[in-house]
Amino acid sequence: MQVIALVGNKGGAGKTTLAINLASAFSELAPTILFDADPQGSSLQWCNIAGDTATLDVLDGSVNLADQVRSSSDLSYCVVDCPPSVHSEQTQEALRISDLVIIPVQPSPLDLWASVHIETEVNKARTANPDLRALLVINQSESRTRLSKLAAEALKELSLPAATTAIRRRVAHRNAMLEGRSVLQMGSRGAMAADEIRQLIDELKTHMET
Ligand SMILES: Nc1ncnc2c1ncn2[C@@H]1O[C@H](COP(=O)(O)OP(=O)(O)OP(=O)(O)O)[C@@H](O)[C@H]1O
Ligand SMILES: [Mg+2]
Repeated sequence: MQVIALVGNKGGAGKTTLAINLASAFSELAPTILFDADPQGSSLQWCNIAGDTATLDVLDGSVNLADQVRSSSDLSYCVVDCPPSVHSEQTQEALRISDLVIIPVQPSPLDLWASVHIETEVNKARTANPDLRALLVINQSESRTRLSKLAAEALKELSLPAATTAIRRRVAHRNAMLEGRSVLQMGSRGAMAADEIRQLIDELKTHMET
């Protein structure tokens, strides 16, 4: 099983949005579970909206995360949505048990600089979890014409690698959340957002394989 956690130190960066959509995309490929490790419970709320139409199992992972993940080890992918603090016990536990942490960041220098704290925590976690990989993912980018120059400079100062796939700000993400769906289930309304998520999945797979 591959354990993939969405972590960050900034509220609203897109951890829950990416956790839900990546887990939904992984579940098209192989058995997948999503643990909501954030006491705010946003992923669980999304799952409640989906009700009987849910295509993904979402469980409360805010307590006993490591034990629960271990009990799911017969599945292929386990995605963990963390609270907005790297110092929270849930994020710390996720850093201990994950194969890959994804750090969604908005394409602004301020948001990127805030990732320095995550870099420190990832490096600390590697003492006990030496194979831990980490990847920044630009979320809510405004245009395909690359990051702003300043954001690109800020990104270079971090030693964490960044995914080449950036996720654009798209209304489909907000609508899907309100409807208890992933963007993959939005038909033509979510087609471009779904393409980006699938492209990111392909990129993540290369990081997990090598
Ligand atoms: N790519 C996107 N396009 C459009 N809206 C987005 C996108 N990503 C996130 N959002 C919106 O931004 C807001 C914050 O996203 P989300 O809740 O996923 O962040 P979060 O990091 O989980 O926040 P928190 O730290 O509070 O848990 C939500 O309203 C969400 O719908
Ligand atoms: Mg969240």
